[in-house]
Amino acid sequence: MILNKPVLFSAVQPSGNLTIGNYIGTMRHWSSMQNNYDCLYCIADLHALTSIKNNIFSLNTLILDTLSFYLACGVDPNKSIIFIQSHVHQHSQLNWILNCFSEFSELLRMTQFKTKIHEKKTSEKTINAALFNYPILMAADILLYQTNFVPVGQDQKQHIELTRNIAQRFNNLYGSIFTLPESLISQYGSKIMSLLEPKKKMSKSDINYKNVIYLLDDIYSIKFKIKNAVTDSEIPSKIYYDIDKKPGISNLLEILSAVTHKDVKILLKELDGVMYSEFKKIVIDYVSKFLNSLQKSYYNYRSNESYLKKIAYDGAIKAQLKSKKTLKNIYDKLGLIRFH
Ligand code: TRP
Repeated sequence: MILNKPVLFSAVQPSGNLTIGNYIGTMRHWSSMQNNYDCLYCIADLHALTSIKNNIFSLNTLILDTLSFYLACGVDPNKSIIFIQSHVHQHSQLNWILNCFSEFSELLRMTQFKTKIHEKKTSEKTINAALFNYPILMAADILLYQTNFVPVGQDQKQHIELTRNIAQRFNNLYGSIFTLPESLISQYGSKIMSLLEPKKKMSKSDINYKNVIYLLDDIYSIKFKIKNAVTDSEIPSKIYYDIDKKPGISNLLEILSAVTHKDVKILLKELDGVMYSEFKKIVIDYVSKFLNSLQKSYYNYRSNESYLKKIAYDGAIKAQLKSKKTLKNIYDKLGLIRFH
């Protein structure tokens, strides 16, 4: 008997400017996960519509950029399903249905929504309804494929909890339709912080570019930004891991750990007695090497648009086949009658 592997679903918004935080928190694990799970890697373009600011970058381009990064991170179309969310209309269909099983009050409790509203107050932007309903579309993404695991950063954990609650509520009414997903969070690196404000998450939409290392940064920017990263003024200076007391140093340790594939504990032994300035040089060196090789691979894929489009097309067909099954089951249960 062939045992099926557990299903893993992951997605990133194609909102451009992916950061080293996105890589370390999520994409870094994708390649090796393909061996242990049946993986679906989605480009969440419908989610990106919630925060379209202007048309400087067309979504079209951003989607292909993101797809190229997926491939550069080692996602293999022969092992995994890689697809674009809007190509699989079942996501929008299930989204509506799940809206009918979600509570206004539970959406109001979403930290990410509250933070976004707070940020927007200071700018002139209005808040669209999709921003509020955003986690339900995420739930639809996940539940369509009977997903067992969702690798996410800390900030998305609450959305996975919400997904479970919605699924459970539906299952209670209609029998076991949905698999309840679990989040997969790695101990270090699930939340990379800003370089100048290490108590704040590194965000691709940060207005201060010095806070963020972008995956496409050149070597000069990397040097400049890490050199200026905030540390602390402990005397004598000592490198150790403590998020509260030493957020800046701990953040650089997490970044170094991810790009060297070394555990923070091992790094700490190696860095015993090293000065902050020397430590930063080491971080600069490893981050530059790492990004350089990632970028080479990225540009290689990005220059072949017809290949990218074929991958997305094939992926959508495979994703549709799987999601159709779940949706048909749900339509039947809800009495949404079909005559074909
Ligand atoms: N909201 C996620 C992010 O911004 C992207 C996303 C969309 C996602 N759908 C998902 C992540 C489903 C995990 C599972 O990072």
